[in-house]
Amino acid sequence: MEQIKSKSIVLGLTGGIAAYKAAELARLLIKQGVDVQVAMTDGAGHFITHTTMQALTGKPVLSNQWDGSGNGMAHINLSRAADAIVIAPATADFIARLAHGLADDLLSTMCLARNCPLLIAPAMNRQMWESAATQRNIAQLKADGVIVLGPDTGVQACGEEGMGRMLEAEQLAQGVIGSFQPKLLAGKKLLLTAGPTYEAIDAVRGITNRSSGKMGYAIAQAALDMGAQVTLVSGPVALAAPAGAQLVKVESALEMFDAVKKLVAASDIFIGVAAVADYRVAQTSAQKIKKDGGNLAIELVPNPDILAYVAALANPPFCVGFAAESENLRTYAEQKRRAKKLPLLAANLAQKAIGADDNELILFDDAGEHVLPRSDKPSQARALLSHIIKLTMTNKL
Ligand code: C5P
Repeated sequence: MEQIKSKSIVLGLTGGIAAYKAAELARLLIKQGVDVQVAMTDGAGHFITHTTMQALTGKPVLSNQWDGSGNGMAHINLSRAADAIVIAPATADFIARLAHGLADDLLSTMCLARNCPLLIAPAMNRQMWESAATQRNIAQLKADGVIVLGPDTGVQACGEEGMGRMLEAEQLAQGVIGSFQPKLLAGKKLLLTAGPTYEAIDAVRGITNRSSGKMGYAIAQAALDMGAQVTLVSGPVALAAPAGAQLVKVESALEMFDAVKKLVAASDIFIGVAAVADYRVAQTSAQKIKKDGGNLAIELVPNPDILAYVAALANPPFCVGFAAESENLRTYAEQKRRAKKLPLLAANLAQKAIGADDNELILFDDAGEHVLPRSDKPSQARALLSHIIKLTMTNKL
């Protein structure tokens, strides 16, 4: 969050139905302490009014290149004052104009004249998104250093379903915040486990837990934003992997263990966020077990401790553990840290953290404990990584 506070952003709207999400995006950015100046194309004005955006930002919306105010250089002045320009929604037409350096209205001129980062959130029908022309333009913009946020897949305003939906305001706000993170993990390789594991009982049943994977995925995204190379070994979750992360999908603890063993040698930092099942079924049945009215005993055997294995390697990466406890958080967490010989452990109360959108981590290291005040999981992830960076700067990675 710190990095985004007091920044100035030009929020550019172009003519798409997703423009309604830009109102919420403006609100979320302002909540983070960002100074938001809205600029709209004429097309955008067909979808959302200037009055709405002005009321949310407290500033008149800019759209006319020829209004004669100031020195007649609004495009230069605005882009110089901005720390970033964010175009949401960015239509196929606006993307094409950006890719070709066209500058025929205030917003496109400002983009061409900028000396700050440009982020775009594409929003269009799936056929328009998949068209060779749009894909060519997007590839060109990426090569030019433009940050492309999304799009997402799902039901579209036109009734079709597919890729091209603009990301939700919250995801866009996180993308903008992420783009401001200093690249303190550039050149570092981060391996992390996330989500639950699924231990099969028979062909259709299994043992799992309520971990959503949100914390692990948020850490993966935050690390990518800080420039790290990220490998995410994930149990079954309903989340999309952050773009840019290498995703290794697993189900059971043994599969997770195998994946980690293969990947760990190349990593500088290992974070075990996964809620790994402590036990697996001794004899998995290939067929569905039939009920016979009597009791059913299932023998469970302990799973290997992945994190303890990594921490005990001869030349381990910097290892970070997570501990979800339902009581005696401090005592159990510190015991766990010592037992697994970890330089850092992040603890939280399971009943408050699992599946929730926000969290309150307490970090335990050799210097004692550090409470990260309650906030959304992306903010907790950034704070955790900042702490890791602080610790590893003194103890070389
Ligand atoms: O012992 P406990 O399960 O509470 O430890 C939690 C930490 O250890 C987490 O970081 C978790 O990812 C990791 N862990 C593991 N393999 C296991 C059990 C836990 O890596 N089998």
